[in-house]
Amino acid sequence: MTFAALVVALTVSAQNTSTVIIPKPLQVSQVKGSYVVTPKTVISVSDDSLVRPAEIFADYVASEAGMTLAVEKNAKKGILLAVDSSLGKEEYTLDVTSKGVSIKGGTPQGVFYGLQSLRQLISAGTTAKKGIELQGVSIKDKPLLGYRGAMFDVCRHFFTVKEVKRFIDMVAMHKMNVLHWHLTEDQGWRIEIKKYPNLIKKGSVRKETIIGRNNSTSYDGMPHGGYYTQEEIRDIVKYAAERYIEVIPEIDMPGHMVAALASYNYLGCRDEKFEVRTKWGISKDVLCVGKESTLEFIEGVLEEVFQLFPSKYSHLGGDEAPRDRWKECPHCQKRMKDEGLKDENELQSYFTHRVEAILAKHGRKIIGWDEVIKGGVNKSVTVMLWQDKRRLQATTLGNEVILTPKKHCYMDYYQTRRPDSNKEGPMFATRIVTLLDAYNLNPYENLKPEQYKNIKGVQCNLWTEFISTFERVQHKMLPRMAGIAEAGWSQGEKNFDDFARRVNHLRQLYDKAGYHHYATYFFDGDDER
Ligand code: ACM
Ligand code: ZN
Repeated sequence: MTFAALVVALTVSAQNTSTVIIPKPLQVSQVKGSYVVTPKTVISVSDDSLVRPAEIFADYVASEAGMTLAVEKNAKKGILLAVDSSLGKEEYTLDVTSKGVSIKGGTPQGVFYGLQSLRQLISAGTTAKKGIELQGVSIKDKPLLGYRGAMFDVCRHFFTVKEVKRFIDMVAMHKMNVLHWHLTEDQGWRIEIKKYPNLIKKGSVRKETIIGRNNSTSYDGMPHGGYYTQEEIRDIVKYAAERYIEVIPEIDMPGHMVAALASYNYLGCRDEKFEVRTKWGISKDVLCVGKESTLEFIEGVLEEVFQLFPSKYSHLGGDEAPRDRWKECPHCQKRMKDEGLKDENELQSYFTHRVEAILAKHGRKIIGWDEVIKGGVNKSVTVMLWQDKRRLQATTLGNEVILTPKKHCYMDYYQTRRPDSNKEGPMFATRIVTLLDAYNLNPYENLKPEQYKNIKGVQCNLWTEFISTFERVQHKMLPRMAGIAEAGWSQGEKNFDDFARRVNHLRQLYDKAGYHHYATYFFDGDDER
């Protein structure tokens, strides 16, 4: 081959794999021709299961591109949607030719992901006389990992039903499929439980909130509260399901339970009155795991939780439970003696086993933060790994693991090292996760190939101690969420420059979708490489 021919070949092959789509698809090839989507373009569905995904897509196009597309059954022209059972559950193909657009998915969920890709192509398309011109392309795509999640803490600050739905829309845009909903905390209990009304009456409101970090002595003097009724929760779960997002509830126990103790003080080790916590950090007051009445309470709560959430998983927290109260509590000490438990780590394991048995009775499985490993854990528990130091231990146990390591996945952290460009305000955490750090999450880092199968998925987490508005939620999640989404979906070599180029396109879609508060540190020059 001559040098000139080589240059042409390389240029063509570079073009052939170039795309604006995030997360990066498995295979992309350019096809001759182009197609113009106009207000007259029809979305044609081959069966009823595709009507709702098509309608949701039509809503996107209406608000983001200003075109109202009709959804029709078997119109056989325009944007054709079909299920092709030879493809995997989340797999899709997307073809744009001069004749139209065709999306096939292994299930309606696969079609939905094809539509998310098309949405990005439309956002980045060229304005033509009658509509938006899309270049010919053939895409084959499927995710690397089956669990791609985002955690939303609605306890440190409460967010409305509408805002939770906007969060779900963000998750859907990135082809993620789990909302891990952190519903209970020291600072507020947010889920209505009919059997225990005080959880809402008392536990959902704190009388005031500390100003600044925990070494501060000033408080704002303003009550903060909010909760979701069971009806609202059903509505949110349905909204998520229509976007192929599973909602996994977290009822964090035995730590992070002060709001429950404030509602029912018999749940604590000490016979004293508790208040919903008004500052951040870790409380020494935790559930008394010596008393049977605590386990009855947990079962009563979980029975209602299971009615609301169809997911086969339930997150039981398990993080940050200090041992101080258990060491002094006659009930807890008696439990340890009766059960032959050698220390308080084993007492927490005992509690985890008891809760796991409650879940198993209802056909559910537990997810726990990585502290559940201490003191021993059953193989059936899915470990959510957040502490970088426990990564190797968690991944060698043989348990299913969801990766959410702080140094890549904690979206409450700062995202820039330049104080002069820091628009993030006061923070609880002083650590930093840049866009590059988020992108660099590698699910298989330091693992042997035989361990890969234990990695169920990845997740980004949003703790909200210092995030009280939905504008700040957007600013923290976007675009770093795109980095985590890509880590969970895409295969092959990483290339941050190419990712950044695609994020630059995605920014336009964020704006069109009304997420105007996304962060721009990287694009403003905070390149940390
Ligand atoms: C956690 O960040 N406490 C899981
Ligand atoms: Zn106790």
